[in-house]
Amino acid sequence: MMECSWKTLLLLLCASLAVQFTAIRTLRDSLSGPCQGGYRCQSRHHRDLRWRTLCDDSWFPVEPPRKHILLFATTRSGSSFTGQLFNQHSGFFYVFGPLYRVQQAFTNSSSRLRRTLDRRALLGAYRDLLLNLYTCDFHFLENYIRPEPQDHVTSAFFRRSSSHALCSPPVCSEEGNSPPSDVPDELWCPKKCGALNLTLASMSCVSRGHVAIKTVRVPEVGDLRTLTEDPRLDLKIIHLVRDPRAILASRMMAFPDQFRAWKFWNATGRQPRYVDLSQITSTCKDMAASANTGLQRPVWLRGRYLLVRYEDLALKTREKASEIYSFVGLKMEDRVQTWIAKNTNANISSPSEWNYMYTTTRDSRATAESWRLRLSFDIVRTVQNLCNDTLALLGYKKVDSSDELRDLSKSLVEHRTFHPVT
Ligand SMILES: *[C@@H]1O[C@H](CO)[C@@H](O)[C@H](O)[C@H]1NC(C)=O
Ligand SMILES: *[C@@H]1O[C@H](CO)[C@@H](O)[C@H](O)[C@H]1NC(C)=O
Ligand SMILES: *[C@@H]1O[C@H](CO)[C@@H](O)[C@H](O)[C@H]1NC(C)=O
Ligand SMILES: *[C@@H]1O[C@H](CO)[C@@H](O)[C@H](O)[C@H]1NC(C)=O
Ligand SMILES: *[C@@H]1O[C@H](CO)[C@@H](O)[C@H](O)[C@H]1NC(C)=O
Repeated sequence: MMECSWKTLLLLLCASLAVQFTAIRTLRDSLSGPCQGGYRCQSRHHRDLRWRTLCDDSWFPVEPPRKHILLFATTRSGSSFTGQLFNQHSGFFYVFGPLYRVQQAFTNSSSRLRRTLDRRALLGAYRDLLLNLYTCDFHFLENYIRPEPQDHVTSAFFRRSSSHALCSPPVCSEEGNSPPSDVPDELWCPKKCGALNLTLASMSCVSRGHVAIKTVRVPEVGDLRTLTEDPRLDLKIIHLVRDPRAILASRMMAFPDQFRAWKFWNATGRQPRYVDLSQITSTCKDMAASANTGLQRPVWLRGRYLLVRYEDLALKTREKASEIYSFVGLKMEDRVQTWIAKNTNANISSPSEWNYMYTTTRDSRATAESWRLRLSFDIVRTVQNLCNDTLALLGYKKVDSSDELRDLSKSLVEHRTFHPVT
């Protein structure tokens, strides 16, 4: 009885809103309770009856449902390249690696210490930040930026220029002469855009409609469960995996200091006793655990998980990108198509100007298996033993000899399809 009249009241309230089409956007956002942000309810799968009745949005003007994409990856697995598929789309607000700052705040950058920290608290902080970013509240991020932003303005936003939205109007009002469209944001944005106004970032996020976030900090897909269950979000997780041998080779190139022992091993053929095998081991464990979880289709992940191998994306970019976009439920823009055409077979025009670590413009075909020329067979054999289950699960062939390793005419990537969960 009580519940019923409460619902009626709510329905009346929602109905009265319907006549105020012009003011509806503001109202909808300031309403509290389950009708808050009608678009959120609308985008939700109608599996929760309670929410459906309260949020039935047939009164609201039709607006494309907001998409919340998580590019779930690990360091050096090709996520910068993959992230461009969203960064290049004008409907996406793309954020690159925002959890980095949270991790910094929770640790003092000693990787050994990281493991002993309160894992649950850190993962909780990750999820809080992701939820706030998905709902376009950038002020929440301020807690983690060092030095602390003044008047919601900061010059220390982590890798701002990796986000096209943060280098475009209204966030960056680079007066008059905007740069030619084929110049990457990385080359001009930090110089021309000035400090970042986080209020403007939030506004730009709201206006773009969809949010895509790339992260390499969350260990397992299970750590994201409360976000997939959150009725305010329509989260879709794109799990990007890559051959762990390639990941290791790429990390050795990108972080030579951290991988000094590995490089010594690679160059001399002698394995130093102090080489740290634990990092690549946990990378493999986490990757396999997430893939196993995702492919088993638990209820909380159903329709929300897509496994993508970087190698497939690198070799058949157009085809895989279409698959990703159809999973997400959006049309791939021409802009994205153009970017793909340019970057899957590219000549890097001036490599010296590029920050090697995060370069995305390169011939993806040529780089997918180039690790095979960069690692000694001894290292490869060790990683194959550490990661054997992961290699088998994801369809990466092992090699038994140095000759087999170097023979690029035979691909080590088995043909596999990992069916999108529907
Ligand atoms: C990090 O934490 C360790 C252990 O508490 C401490 O010894 C070290 O001084 C800290 N380093 C920094 C840079 O704060
Ligand atoms: C940031 O942008 C908002 C919205 O345009 C504006 O009101 C505010 O004054 C700006 N902050 C600074 C410090 O310029
Ligand atoms: C790449 O550059 C080389 C030499 O500069 C040129 O001959 C070749 O045609 C270029 N290839 C493409 C695909 O642009
Ligand atoms: C490993 O050694 C080979 C041959 O000495 C070298 O070409 C390659 O660049 C090295 N790999 C890394 C990641 O340093
Ligand atoms: C991986 O290696 C372990 C230990 O040698 C073995 O028990 C396991 O069966 C192997 N898994 C695969 C998929 O080969």
